[in-house]
Amino acid sequence: MSDHMPDDLSAAGRDLRAYTDQLRSKYAAVKNIQGEWVLLRHAEVVAAAQDHKRFSSNVSRYLQIPNGLDGEEHTQYRRIIEQYLTAEALTPFVPVFKHIAQDLMAHLPRGKAIDAVQEIGALFAVRAQCAWLGWPAELEEPLLQWMTDNHAATRSGEQEQLSKVAQTFDAIIQSVVAPRRAAPEQAPNDVTTKLCRDQINGRLLTEEELVSILRNWTGGDLGSIALCIGVLVAHLAQNPDSGDYLRNASDSDVEAYINEVLRLDNPFISNRRITTCPVRIGEHQLPAGTKVKLNWTSANRDESVFNNNAFQPQEHAADNLVYGTGKHVCPGELLSTWQLRIALQALLKNSTTITLAPTLPLEREVAPVGGYHKVPIILG
Ligand code: HEM
Repeated sequence: MSDHMPDDLSAAGRDLRAYTDQLRSKYAAVKNIQGEWVLLRHAEVVAAAQDHKRFSSNVSRYLQIPNGLDGEEHTQYRRIIEQYLTAEALTPFVPVFKHIAQDLMAHLPRGKAIDAVQEIGALFAVRAQCAWLGWPAELEEPLLQWMTDNHAATRSGEQEQLSKVAQTFDAIIQSVVAPRRAAPEQAPNDVTTKLCRDQINGRLLTEEELVSILRNWTGGDLGSIALCIGVLVAHLAQNPDSGDYLRNASDSDVEAYINEVLRLDNPFISNRRITTCPVRIGEHQLPAGTKVKLNWTSANRDESVFNNNAFQPQEHAADNLVYGTGKHVCPGELLSTWQLRIALQALLKNSTTITLAPTLPLEREVAPVGGYHKVPIILG
């Protein structure tokens, strides 16, 4: 194959997963039209994600805490973030998430088509995340609008549009950070306030650092949760027996089931790295400074690791890359896993049937995101 793939690996007009399945059988890595090397197989993706010295995460000109940091600097910020995402810190929010899920699912219309990505996924993600962070319900609308605008800008790839939505988002975050900073003694005792009081190297986090952390917790993750819910509901609608199994399964079995569905159809496609020295990937020698993409979606469908992609939740759990691996592994895994399980259980409890709407097609997303753009279903 030539050194340069005449393709951007975009899903426009085709199923991205089918395309990377096809490429992966022949190549460990391909170069896209942006000149980035996309790693497609499990072994190479895991090796690069765990080799923090040769594959740096410092890929963006913007401050990205902690995902754009390396080494000790990354460890310091990561420590701050992790304290909010442990089982102990998250357990008090379980009844809150359950209440949000029950309220949402009980009020969904029955017998007419609804879109599971927007009307279930995005709504649940925004409400649950606002409750966790202590953000007011009035932010629900602006955040949903921001998700739609951000999605359109990401699809268009237009720099101007992207920076406009980034500014809108920063303004939303400023609106919660500024009052907590201005009057700390009157601030509510929530996750956002605690973060505003956190220190690094004996000083408070700067506003820029706070905005970056909160952008990371909300920006990408609201979209990821919504897309994951879309994938899960599409699976339920296409596999009616799975509903009967999940209604009676333990929490941990439901979580393993969810992770296996997401492994096969991972909507969080890739993360970037940059090589710090020459590295060899398959037959290719990449010089220092090469931009690399770890394609989790493709690696998660590597037939040689996942028994030809048989559906085996327990057997595949250890190799599943939905939440990444290495030092940058998703610190929000537990929060997401609980939120997704709680949403799914509430949906199943509140509906007797979940079927695909007969006249409206399932619509796939386009790169750089995966999963579905629309999952039209009818609830009974
Ligand atoms: C289903 C939803 C989610 C998926 C699929 C997901 C997936 C991932 C993946 C694959 C990474 C690794 C990035 C890399 O190696 O460069 C990551 C990192 C990260 N995720 Fe998530 N994530 C989700 C939800 C969340 C949530 C809810 C939060 C926080 C509230 C969160 C916070 C983060 C942060 C801060 C990082 C960067 C960690 C670091 O660089 O050390 N994620 N996520």
